[in-house]
Amino acid sequence: MAFMSSVRTLIAPSILAADFARIGSAIEAAEQAGADWIHLDVMDGHFVPNLTFGPKMVADIRKLTELPLDVHLMVDNPGELLEKYIDAGADYLTFHAEAETHIHRLIQRIRNAGCRPGVAIVPSTPIDALSCILSDIDLALVMTVNPGFGGQTLIEGCLRKVEELCEERSKAGASFLIEADGGVSPETAARCRHAGFDVLVAGSAVFGASDMERAVAQLRTASLDSSPTGDDT
Ligand code: DX5
Ligand code: ZN
Repeated sequence: MAFMSSVRTLIAPSILAADFARIGSAIEAAEQAGADWIHLDVMDGHFVPNLTFGPKMVADIRKLTELPLDVHLMVDNPGELLEKYIDAGADYLTFHAEAETHIHRLIQRIRNAGCRPGVAIVPSTPIDALSCILSDIDLALVMTVNPGFGGQTLIEGCLRKVEELCEERSKAGASFLIEADGGVSPETAARCRHAGFDVLVAGSAVFGASDMERAVAQLRTASLDSSPTGDDT
């Protein structure tokens, strides 16, 4: 049973798709385009086969915008880095369930530091990985591509996971947001919203668009009756 969030879908452009040599104007452009959050992909070259940036990038971007900074740690041993990214200005700090044994302890550390904790799962990880912490998190990031790179095609099977997670959330009386991350585009956004995602991360669909404002609006308002179905993509 699909669950469409009744509140406004939040759009979080991922700066992975922006020009790192001009990150200031990218942040400004995303803000002017109507972005709700800024998504920052931290990659260590071990948990994922790509390397991006450290806490200083977050701290420098913090000086440029009031928008919530949604920091996504795709790193091994995330517990070694939490406070560095929190002190840099992260509003949401999300780490991968697959990278940590003591998930609940890290959630407590993030929350005790005044930051909003999130836990992410890759496409092959079932929703069960989140079942014991549904009431402890503010964000569940469901990867809709295999992590490491932007510009990939959304994995349709991940949408069913979200429908299941929405049901688990209501059964638990929890109130965390559910975020789609990877392959979100005007063609796939409607199915993501219909599946129950509250937040859509979009890198190439926003920073690759000639009209970023139009792209953000399309992602936020995409509906099934005006989008192609999943099976012909
Ligand atoms: C991938 C990252 C995503 C990615 C999204 O590992 O977590 O946030 O930047 O990029 P697009 O929207 O281009 O798939
Ligand atoms: Zn991400």
